[in-house]
Amino acid sequence: MIVAIDGPAASGKGTIARRLAAHYGLPHLDTGLLYRATARSLVDEGGALDDAGRAVAAARGLALTDFDEARLRGREMGEAASVVAAIPEVRAALAEMQRRFADHPGGAVLDGRDIGTVIAPDARIKIFVTASPETRAQRRALELRGRGEHVDYAEILADIRKRDERDSHRSAAPLRAAPDAHILDTTDLDIEAAFGAALAIVEKARG
Ligand code: DC
Repeated sequence: MIVAIDGPAASGKGTIARRLAAHYGLPHLDTGLLYRATARSLVDEGGALDDAGRAVAAARGLALTDFDEARLRGREMGEAASVVAAIPEVRAALAEMQRRFADHPGGAVLDGRDIGTVIAPDARIKIFVTASPETRAQRRALELRGRGEHVDYAEILADIRKRDERDSHRSAAPLRAAPDAHILDTTDLDIEAAFGAALAIVEKARG
């Protein structure tokens, strides 16, 4: 059972994916971390984020152990990842790793922007998680403050809008719901309610 969870930044998709994976005993891959780790390599080398050659080399050099770092989840890397993720060759370099993960016997849960459309178009269950930009900005501000970053709500909202724009309008695998995805709007849902709604979608789809 492949479960593909897509959606914009801070929609709740990561938490939903993690909890579904725990519920069903499936491995989970947060694919945003692949793009964030690629961006981190470029930032650390001091290279331009849109240098396709170096970005591809960084993507190919990733190891799954590269992801366990608080800095990756911070604001700077989210923004940088969105730039790197617009490079088609970077997406191609990271696609294989994601498809191998999705092929895990018994299934897997992957969350990102193009799981249901590009990485696993045959996934049995697809959920597109969304929420209003304002709600997402509030959640992201809370999360970043919880991690010790000093952030301003208005700046986070501007970041979210910019990332939505970039992720949705790039030519390579833009953020969009697969035609057969279930849309889950979490604007008025807390995490328990959002998880409950996602679980109901999965249970129904499994028949
Ligand atoms: O989900 P996230 O905030 O960790 O993702 C960071 C950026 O990486 C996001 O702005 C767009 C990009 N991304 C992508 O293009 N495709 C994915 N499957 C996951 C993330």
